[in-house]
Amino acid sequence: MATISEQDLEAQLAELSTQERFAPPSEFREHALLSDPKVYEEANADWQGWWATQAASLRWFEPWQTVLDDTNPPFYKWFVGGKLNVSDNCLDRHVEAGNGARVAFHWRGEEGETRDVTYEDLLRDTQRMANGLKSLGIGKGDVVGIYLPMIPEVAVAMLACARIGAVHNVVFGGFSAESVRERMEFSEARALITVDGAARKGRVAPVKANVDAVMSDLASLEHIIVVRSKGTECEMRDGRDIWYHDLVVDADTECPPEPMDAEDPLFVLYTSGSTAKPKGILHTTGGYLTGAATTHRYVFDLKPESDVYWCSADVGWITGHSYIIYGPLANGATSIMYEGAPDYPHKGIWWEIAAHYKATIFYTAPTAIRACMKWGAEHVLAHDLSSLRLLGTVGEPINPKAWLWYHKVVGSERCPIVDTWWQTETGAMMITPLPGITETKPGSATQPFPGISAKVVDERTGEPIENGQGLLVLDRPWPSMLRTLYRDDDRFVETYWKQYGPRTYLVGDAARVDKDGYFWVIGRIDDVVNVSGHRLSTAEVESAIVAHESVSEAAVIGQHDEDTGQAICAFVTLQGSTEGTEALIEGIRNTVAERIGKFARPKRIIWADDLPKTRSGKIMRRLLRDIAEGRALGDVTTLRDPTVMAALQDKIAAERADDEG
Ligand code: WT7
Repeated sequence: MATISEQDLEAQLAELSTQERFAPPSEFREHALLSDPKVYEEANADWQGWWATQAASLRWFEPWQTVLDDTNPPFYKWFVGGKLNVSDNCLDRHVEAGNGARVAFHWRGEEGETRDVTYEDLLRDTQRMANGLKSLGIGKGDVVGIYLPMIPEVAVAMLACARIGAVHNVVFGGFSAESVRERMEFSEARALITVDGAARKGRVAPVKANVDAVMSDLASLEHIIVVRSKGTECEMRDGRDIWYHDLVVDADTECPPEPMDAEDPLFVLYTSGSTAKPKGILHTTGGYLTGAATTHRYVFDLKPESDVYWCSADVGWITGHSYIIYGPLANGATSIMYEGAPDYPHKGIWWEIAAHYKATIFYTAPTAIRACMKWGAEHVLAHDLSSLRLLGTVGEPINPKAWLWYHKVVGSERCPIVDTWWQTETGAMMITPLPGITETKPGSATQPFPGISAKVVDERTGEPIENGQGLLVLDRPWPSMLRTLYRDDDRFVETYWKQYGPRTYLVGDAARVDKDGYFWVIGRIDDVVNVSGHRLSTAEVESAIVAHESVSEAAVIGQHDEDTGQAICAFVTLQGSTEGTEALIEGIRNTVAERIGKFARPKRIIWADDLPKTRSGKIMRRLLRDIAEGRALGDVTTLRDPTVMAALQDKIAAERADDEG
């Protein structure tokens, strides 16, 4: 295979200018599902009609009477009166059309294990699992937690819930058991589906044992279903725990899909907000599936007969829900599912897998691209990636250098890149190129998807800005929008619809719009930090830190980080002493890992005698951000005690001098 020296690569990357626009290659455009820009005008002229057309490509048991009920904003309803089932759309439909033998997932384990799961397999296993759940008394409207690694059973578990109308609540495997407990408690989950152990770069994490350690006193949780995956020893509590294989062994392979109302809940997914309490984002059935399937088809230009699609996210995030499970399966796609890390057993494993299965579409996060850049192009170039035809990114703004590297090294300058902006709340992509139409600019998510309306507005007046910076809003409802925060309508209205009224969704991101109408998302305006595309609230991390016995107070900020986008930086005041030891740093980091998960551990801890506060006692994180980034301080007139800042500044300056010396 061709190899390329670092210098050559640098030189070639320098030639590719970030100012350049990248038009869809004509070869791509010729075969694209959408190649006529008129689609935007048509969708905008009759956006409800456009979404109705998209929804009509799903299978409905009963048609809807009203496309959109917007009489009680912000509580919008889509496809009112329609009935369908998500698992029927993702499975039965394809099997009945004669595509049952098509592979849904080429699964690959960390140690090279493989399993090919066809649509037929998935349908059979989903029905058995659905009957298994029913046999435990789980039914429509019950919440079922799912805490599983990237194994095919996670798809089965989600689809089985969808089949019987149970509401799943998936928790990312990187979250600690403590976080799982909290999410099960908030949602009053009746059952939890988990695993004996999960692969962690050659070791096995004892997932079930970790769950047992925290879940014993949770009364609402009646059942724990355990998938045997790694053969890890685990205790099974009588009357509560059951093996997945025992649950399904005698289960009937037929379980007719429950006809669900378009507005029946499909899932709740907890995500971080401005306070320590995560928000339960609630998505419903008809609109969500319409959004996920439509965007997956058009943004990835999906040809189910020939494409091999790979989204490297984890199912525990919305990206996994919409673009590993529901979008791809609704579209009858063949996907790759990988349970493992990108650098184990070696740093080229992703590309080895992509080459092996002849992946055609690859979707990942900027932070992963930056990691690959750091490891070196040779790990990519050692594999034949000529099957790739389209690349995507999601999760955070992509810096132009990483964009160009992705374009050049992974895509051989042949593959369009779709930089897709969206959120847990939006359910599906909102601002994104269409690969056969849009000229891309590195670092911009470009333009709203057909039917979507986005604006950048002046923070104070809410007036749209034509060419400049402000707050990003979505000023038209869309089918896959969140319907509420689980059992917390007030917080839903407060968080998203208070600022500019119930018809303007406040995204929570700052953005810039340029003279061509391209959107450049800058980052969060609230106390949400984005670490490697993982969303964390500063308040959540603070409350984990203060759980440590030696800590009296903590303030957390997101600091710019070359690898992870942002990194957690914590200002910590100790009880008694003012300076902590290395051991204490480790202790605090461990506490955060236990409470939230390893990915939330602070990268930097700064001991502080006191924290800058307003006269009413609110911590001024804005000033802490200034200090941490080494910037001049912003407005300090509201500070209660200005000497606090002076002391902290001295400290940071000393730390810097230490680092440099
Ligand atoms: C936040 C949402 C959507 C799945 C992954 C994250 C940031 C997301 C982009 C992008 C710039 C992006 C935003 C957003 N974000 N995609 N392409 N360009 N920023 O979902 O955890 O709900 O986080 O991620 O700040 O608000 P999430």
